Amino acid sequence: MLAVIGGSGLYRVDGLKVLEEIEIKTPFGEPSSPIVRAEYGGFPVLFLARHGREHAFPPHRVPYRANLWALKELGVKYVLGINAVGGINRLLRPGDFVIVDQFLDFTKSRPQSFYEGSFSPDYTYEGNEKHKRLLAEKRVVHIDVSEPFCPTLRGILEEVLTKKGVRFFDRGTYVATEGPRLETAAEIRAFSLLGGDVVGMTMVPEVVLARELELHYAGLCVVTNPAAGIAGYRLTSEEVIEMMKQKEEEIKDILLSAVEKIYGTKVWNCECENTLEGAEV
Ligand code: HPA
Repeated sequence: MLAVIGGSGLYRVDGLKVLEEIEIKTPFGEPSSPIVRAEYGGFPVLFLARHGREHAFPPHRVPYRANLWALKELGVKYVLGINAVGGINRLLRPGDFVIVDQFLDFTKSRPQSFYEGSFSPDYTYEGNEKHKRLLAEKRVVHIDVSEPFCPTLRGILEEVLTKKGVRFFDRGTYVATEGPRLETAAEIRAFSLLGGDVVGMTMVPEVVLARELELHYAGLCVVTNPAAGIAGYRLTSEEVIEMMKQKEEEIKDILLSAVEKIYGTKVWNCECENTLEGAEV
C-alpha cells in the first residue's frame, strides 16, 4: 500500500475517493491527523496531512514517529512525502520539482529513532514483525543511510515527471533545518558551500523513521521560493502556500501516474526492505 504525506499547503488531495478516516493510536502517540483511506485511479492510497489539517503542528513538533508507525501498522510499504522547499542552488526556480537523493541534517530537537534502548516506551509484543520486536525488546539500532531515499521510487518519480514534461531535477541534497524560523542569509551561504540544493524543515526525521520501518520512501520537493538571501526580499509563508496551491493540479496529476506505476512495479531492486538487517546492537 502507498501512503502520501502532504506538507505545507497540501492538506488533502482532490480527486481522492475517500473511503474512510482512520483514527489510530501508536506507542508514540497519535498521528498529526486522521489517516484518510482512499482510492485513487482505482488503487488504494492512504493520505496523511503532515502538519495536521489545520496546520496545528510546526515542523519541530510534528509527531513523526506516530505518523510513520501508524502508516506501517496500516500495511503501508511505500511512502511519498511532498515537501515545500526553498531553493539554494541558483539553477532552481520557484515551481521546479526536485527528487532529492541526499540530506544534510541541521535539526536539533527531534527524536530520530523508534528504538531508544532503555528509554523506549513499554511495549508488549510477541510475533515476528521485526520493528515491533525491536521496540518490545528495547533495542538500540543504527541504520545505514548512505542512500537515504528509495532509488526505485525515485526512478518512478523521474519517469512520471519526464513524461509530464514538467521542469524538475532528478537529484539534489535536502538541507533540513530545525525551524520554525526561516534561515539567515549566512546559513544559506554555508549550506550552499556544503553542497545543499534545497532547504526545508520536515523531511528529516521523516525519511529516517521510514527507513527504520523498512519502508520505501521518496521525497518530492516543490521549490516555493528562493532561499533566504538569494531571494533579495523578505520571505513569507504566504508565498510558500500560494506556490503549493498553484502546483496542486500538477501534483495531483503526478500522483495519479505515480500510483499506477508504483503498483505496477513488481521488482523492487533496492535494499529498503532490509534496512534493519545487521543494524541492531
Ligand atoms: N526554508 C525552509 N523551509 C522552507 C522554505 C525555506 O526557504 N521554503 C519552504 N519551506
